[in-house]
Amino acid sequence: MFRLLRYMKKYWYIAILAPIFMIIEVGMDMFLTKYMQLMVDDGISIGSMDNIIHYGLIMIGILVLGVAGGMLSNIFTNISCYKFGNDLRKAVFTKIMDLSIHQADKFKTGSLVTRVTNDITQIQNMIAMCLRGLIRSASFFVLGIIFTLSISKNFGGVLLVVLPLEIVLMIIFMAILFPVFKKIQDKLDKVNTVVLENVQGSRVVKAFSKEQYEYNRFVGVNYDYTEKVLFVSKITAFLSPLLNLIVYGGQIIIYYMGGTVIVDAFKNGITPTLMVGQITQAITYITMICMSLLMLGMTFTMIARAYASASRINEVLDEKLELIDGNLDIALIEDKDKGTISFEHVSFGYPGAKEDILKDLNFKVKKGETIAVVGSTGCGKSTLVNLMVRLFDTKSGTVYINGHDVKEYKKEDLHKIVAICLQKAELFAGTIEDNIAFGKPDATLDEIKWAARVAQAEEFILGKDEGYQEVVTEKGTSLSGGQKQRMSIARAILRKPEILIFDDSTSALDLVTEAKLYQAMKADLSYVTKIIVAQRIATAKNADRILVLDKGVIESFGTHDELMENSLVYKDIYLSQLKREEE
Ligand SMILES: Nc1ncnc2c1ncn2[C@@H]1O[C@H](COP(=O)(O)OP(=O)(O)OP(=O)(O)O)[C@@H](O)[C@H]1O
Ligand SMILES: [Mg+2]
Repeated sequence: MFRLLRYMKKYWYIAILAPIFMIIEVGMDMFLTKYMQLMVDDGISIGSMDNIIHYGLIMIGILVLGVAGGMLSNIFTNISCYKFGNDLRKAVFTKIMDLSIHQADKFKTGSLVTRVTNDITQIQNMIAMCLRGLIRSASFFVLGIIFTLSISKNFGGVLLVVLPLEIVLMIIFMAILFPVFKKIQDKLDKVNTVVLENVQGSRVVKAFSKEQYEYNRFVGVNYDYTEKVLFVSKITAFLSPLLNLIVYGGQIIIYYMGGTVIVDAFKNGITPTLMVGQITQAITYITMICMSLLMLGMTFTMIARAYASASRINEVLDEKLELIDGNLDIALIEDKDKGTISFEHVSFGYPGAKEDILKDLNFKVKKGETIAVVGSTGCGKSTLVNLMVRLFDTKSGTVYINGHDVKEYKKEDLHKIVAICLQKAELFAGTIEDNIAFGKPDATLDEIKWAARVAQAEEFILGKDEGYQEVVTEKGTSLSGGQKQRMSIARAILRKPEILIFDDSTSALDLVTEAKLYQAMKADLSYVTKIIVAQRIATAKNADRILVLDKGVIESFGTHDELMENSLVYKDIYLSQLKREEE
């Protein structure tokens, strides 16, 4: 946890002011009690109006100073804590962005959300509590003891009974509560995960009428979470009254001791060593000491809670990055290498999977070539193209883009060279124009229109009421599947990459629209190397060469005519699709 405090370093000069002003507030509180005693014993008891006014004015001055100290302490605490929280949130978010896809999967989206929000808030609250509460309680505790003993050494005996009792009680409670805190955060993860899954997959849930099932699932995790939180509240609810009992016990002993001294003195006709005001003062101090101990306990509880949160945040921050940027200067890439792809002995398997998905792949693609990738569903086509944009790293072997290992590139540079249209078209909340310009925010409207035209998207965009300014939702619910695909094609084309990858990106288009798209691309993007993953032979057939992937290896690689001669797998797919069309 202490490692996270490095994010506080920048604000130490603000943070340090909080306890300083807090000490002023505490000091003033103590003096106030002292002057109350003087007011009673030196003013009211002897009927001296001068003294009453004198002490009254001093008390007003003390009060003003105390209130100012308290306010300033709060302000400085809040400034430093919120700035700390802001910086830490940024750091964790940046780290999440750098995680590889399966690292992010490992943490689960819901849990990452909890960590960036609730966990950081826990730490923020803990620091606030320490800056204000810890100093306040510790000072009340120490000063309270000193002031009590200064009234009468005999009251030390009362403290010796009351304090150990209170400390033992708190230790018992902490021992019960501490292990629950980590569990609370884990339960909250589950609640967030179910909510996120349902928001993201609401259409599927509705289409399969799984609302009741999902509701029950939510009720289950929510109940678990509430149970844990309630457990903590119940235990804490017991603590306060029990502590009060001890405090009242202490007060009774002081009344008894003080009362005895005063009554004895009266009986013997001598001046008592204790005065009424002093007894009231001692009672106030004892209550203050016990309450400060309770506050210290609460602070430790918050520290324990923040400790659990800190370890969850450190898990994210300490996750070793798998995809580290190289430092290749792309200006040095030779012209002869531009637009080329080469796989050398590339093998890849998903972490935890027994068998490799891709096994020792070797092939080269020349600049400007159009390559289709075909193969049965689940055979590894998406995996293959994802390696080209380094969404994952190979297990062994090397992927070369423009003559350089993909690991040599800064990711940003690599993605300037290679643009991919992912299999699942993703949109963001915003206008159509924003969505197309996502990868190139500085694009002009003319460029955006050009990309939309090539992607065969212009017609439907102009058909919308607002045209390019039409707002689409995050999930693109107002667009059809084929329209979404064309939007993401336009987005990739707009970047004018050297290599363009379509991962099954035209599967929802009718054959006529698809043919128009490829024609337009041939005219406007002839220099671009294109990799087209396709299920339909009609899509693949016109490529310069076709790569047939089967059981993790390249079964064959050649033109349509060559494959019709040599490739059993290709011929099979061809004939089965032909037959389906005839039917
Ligand atoms: N993130 C992942 N973790 C583990 N296994 C995965 C992951 N992604 C894909 N797989 C597995 O890897 C294999 C290849 O998946 P891939 O998505 O590359 O297939 P594909 O050829 O693109 O299939 P489709 O034609 O259906 O799109 C599949 O068996 C799949 O179950
Ligand atoms: Mg795929």
